[in-house]
Amino acid sequence: MAVLISILKEKIKRSIQESFKKEFEKKEFSPEITPCTSEKFGHYQCNDPLKLTKILKQTPSEIAKKIVSNIKDKKIFEKIEISKNGFINFIFDKNFISNELDAIFQDPYLGVIPKKNKKIIVEFSSPNVAKELHVGHLRSTIIGESLSRLFEFLNYSVLRLNHIGDWGTQFGMLIAYLKQKKEILEQASLSELTNWYKEAKKRFEKDSEFAKKTKEEVVKLQSEEKEELEIWEKICAISRKAYNEIYNLLDVKILERGESYYNPFLKGIVKDLEKKNLITISDGAKCIFLEGFTSRENTPLPLIVQKSDGGFNYVTTDIAAMKQRALEEKADRIITVIDQGQSLHLKMVHEACVKAKYIDPSKTKFEHVAFGVVLGPDGKKFKTREGETVKLLDLLTEAINKAKEILIKKDPLISNHRLEKLSHILGINAIKYSDLSCHRLKDYKFSYERMLKFEGNTSTFLLYSYVRIMGIKRKLKNDPKKLLKFAKIDLKHPTEISLGLHLIRFAEVIENMEKDLLPNRLADYLYELAEKFNAFFRDCHVIGSKEQNNRLKLCELTAKILKKGFYILGLQVTESL
Ligand code: ARG
Repeated sequence: MAVLISILKEKIKRSIQESFKKEFEKKEFSPEITPCTSEKFGHYQCNDPLKLTKILKQTPSEIAKKIVSNIKDKKIFEKIEISKNGFINFIFDKNFISNELDAIFQDPYLGVIPKKNKKIIVEFSSPNVAKELHVGHLRSTIIGESLSRLFEFLNYSVLRLNHIGDWGTQFGMLIAYLKQKKEILEQASLSELTNWYKEAKKRFEKDSEFAKKTKEEVVKLQSEEKEELEIWEKICAISRKAYNEIYNLLDVKILERGESYYNPFLKGIVKDLEKKNLITISDGAKCIFLEGFTSRENTPLPLIVQKSDGGFNYVTTDIAAMKQRALEEKADRIITVIDQGQSLHLKMVHEACVKAKYIDPSKTKFEHVAFGVVLGPDGKKFKTREGETVKLLDLLTEAINKAKEILIKKDPLISNHRLEKLSHILGINAIKYSDLSCHRLKDYKFSYERMLKFEGNTSTFLLYSYVRIMGIKRKLKNDPKKLLKFAKIDLKHPTEISLGLHLIRFAEVIENMEKDLLPNRLADYLYELAEKFNAFFRDCHVIGSKEQNNRLKLCELTAKILKKGFYILGLQVTESL
């Protein structure tokens, strides 16, 4: 069965455009169609007639009437109403919505239009070797995973990259320190490694002999000498083990391609930038000065690509990475998920790459997916009581433990197996959802208590709707698949229509999320879906009613969309709670 165009907005938009062309012979007009602020006004609205009065020199309601009279495909609407100020409200016919839902039910993309041959790189997580991951990395990991899943669902070819900070002068310090210490590296934990790093740093600042040594170690590492390379690899392996534990808990898949990957290209890049006359020497360092980037004192801001001691830095690596991703990977879109604090840096790197022709903005779109800070319950930056960064593994384990307590309270006789499984699902879902349901540019307060609640806009509340539908299916003794075979969705009751319309909007929400990369759009949608489903379930009899099979189909479609939405947000489902 052919899937009908289910993006309703587009449908209305096209109708209006056609009608507008006919009436006013203006070709370039892109009407704005938004869902009605309240369902009592209608399903979608268009407020453009008011904006057009100046150009067309007619009253808004005259314009609205003309637009409406030209709409051809009127049978998909139950009503089109024009309000006093010329706003047009559209109410879809319930049979039309029912048919659309039947089509979406069959469609693996659930009404969303997939992409063809598009390649996207999503860089996320990107912690630094020999340092503990902090909550900023957690945000990047959760958001990046969700965006990657979104693009995979949309049929993009997705390359998920972990741009680990695994290269740089800090390794000279660590190697020099570890050589003196002669510890058995293999058995060290990331915490030990982090402590050694701190000690090495202290010694570097105090002891000039040691400082000299670290510089020699950097040179040796950069020329890839065996002993130094081996120590470096061990340091990376210890760090990797710690990240992987977190990625496993979070169900995150990502390819490691750290900063060291780009090391062989750095020299050539600086040479090439010099050849292209983009380099200015300032205080002995090779810099790029870009128009429009100035400091607070209004002096030009340098983008340093080679330090005065000859070393390359974070910027050089980022230029190399952007070049490789655009020219070699030939990505259509490159996305970097990292905190807002790095926005200026990334803007400058991008601009420099455009100037050097390492990226062609007409072919490759670069986007910085920025996010705000996680705050502690006291509204200050999230830290432990001792003022240290919170270890992510502790944070995740704590969420799981707290979920366990709640589950035991609810059912003291819960089996161990169920307790383990459910606490993991509820705990990790809660952490992810409380992050993704906030607008990512805003800071948010971290609260176990709030995120683990069973009601309100929480992951467990959403999960309950899914579990309820699974329960309905279990109650129906016959095979629901058989029941669904001949069922047709046939919306009647107002809360049933409202649920149906919301299910169609899934495609619209996914399309918006693809554009603005805001996962909270999907979270809000799912929350509303759960509420609408609950209202429908309260008002409409399912099991044993004469509409049983049709309504079961509506429930099943709700479950499909909830499950897909959950998957895109990186959340897990369970059949019973
Ligand atoms: N490792 C960096 C940090 O922890 C993040 C890297 C972000 N990505 C990039 N291409 N600069 O702050």
